[in-house]
Amino acid sequence: MEKQEQVSTGANELLYQSGFGNSFSSEAIQGALPQGQNNPLVCPFGLYAEQISGTAFTAPRKLNQRSWLYRIKPSVTHEPFKPRTPTHKKLVSEFNQSTSSATPTQLRWKPEEIPDSPTDFIDGLYTICGAGSSFLRHGFAVHMYSANKSMENCAFCNADGDFLIVPEKGRLSITTECGKLHVCPGEIVVLPQGFRFSIDLPDGPSRGYVAEVFGTHFQLPDLGPIGANGLAATRDFLVPTAWFEDEVHPGYIIVQKFGGELFTAKQNFSPFNVVAWHGNYVPYKYDLHKFCPFNTVLMDHGDPSVNTVFMCPLISVLTAPTDKPGVALLDFVIFPPRWLVAEHTFRPPYYHRNCMSEFMGLIYGKYEAKADGFLPGGASLHSCMTPHGPDTNTFETTVGRGTDEAPSKITETMAFMFESSLIPRVCPWALESPCMDHNYYQCWMGLKSHFSHEGSDCCNKEIRSKRS
Ligand SMILES: [Fe+2]
Repeated sequence: MEKQEQVSTGANELLYQSGFGNSFSSEAIQGALPQGQNNPLVCPFGLYAEQISGTAFTAPRKLNQRSWLYRIKPSVTHEPFKPRTPTHKKLVSEFNQSTSSATPTQLRWKPEEIPDSPTDFIDGLYTICGAGSSFLRHGFAVHMYSANKSMENCAFCNADGDFLIVPEKGRLSITTECGKLHVCPGEIVVLPQGFRFSIDLPDGPSRGYVAEVFGTHFQLPDLGPIGANGLAATRDFLVPTAWFEDEVHPGYIIVQKFGGELFTAKQNFSPFNVVAWHGNYVPYKYDLHKFCPFNTVLMDHGDPSVNTVFMCPLISVLTAPTDKPGVALLDFVIFPPRWLVAEHTFRPPYYHRNCMSEFMGLIYGKYEAKADGFLPGGASLHSCMTPHGPDTNTFETTVGRGTDEAPSKITETMAFMFESSLIPRVCPWALESPCMDHNYYQCWMGLKSHFSHEGSDCCNKEIRSKRS
């Protein structure tokens, strides 16, 4: 827990509170936050008290997440939900044979073009892959977005899970019920399940990645032998301060994602009418450049888990605590600029097969294991036990350079990975996308055999007899 403090991140920036998992509080008008109780008969300034629960009421205290919002009108004040028309055809929250396909093939996508027609964050969002079900509160989805216009007179609410948004192009100016957040490429933002939010795109054309987790929330990883410090520091997570508008908005629309489908409800006021709030269930952002990486200082390439920003623990669908310690429903791992100092070591990532499935994206620069073809805004998916690793060019260049004892620095790059113990199924539009790189496998086909054992003793009878 960090001591709560107000953090301003620049002259034209917003005020934030700092910390991860704190009990925060904020009031836009002094005295708006009830003292000594959550739900007084009459709240200060005639506000309504409303709780938002991110965990079951009875969740253990260390996992329990909820906030109290003090608002001008309660969020229930709207007309009935109706299916949104036209329907959004590219969002999935239940991954089965009718919605998605299984494939062990290594997949890679080129960056999606920004649409020509006016497209906001909601319409620009599309699911790539995922596993499990939002209804069963177990699973995840990976989405991407490509948009060019701000949301107008509407707010989005995701009843299915938490969104972790990773912008790659264009800033996001996000209004939430807890206040405003400005998020640049290189930063990430988490919008927890159920919060209403609206996204403005101050730069116009915008693109990025979204991980959605069902039935759990992100936690910071334990640091083990690293000690008490390192990786993502709690004080670098920023939470908004209360902000509200008290205006009539005729025809304001709440767009609710519920079971992967979109529903709309009309109301005549802004949902961003929370004058004060307190609690530990909050939206937050984090600047990936503040991550403090740890790595090998003598030999070999460490497992990528050493760069975990945060993780969602695997929660059994039987609501028991996780029975697989250290196994994540979803890890968020980054590959930031860092020094490479390993001796007599192949420094790029090693070839491997993994029981976890790996979705990767690139925010800027080049990824160290792919000389070509993996571009900012693009993506790759290597599912459970599908082999992958450095492309031919990277392997030959690295080995050809010979033993490099001098430290070298990877600079101007930020790649990331969503890694899951669940096996994702892929949506049809992602498999049929014109951005699909059908030649991806070719990046490894040039890997030659360097095997040579001339002059060595051979124990293999067949080879020995051929020699003689
Ligand atoms: Fe991998």
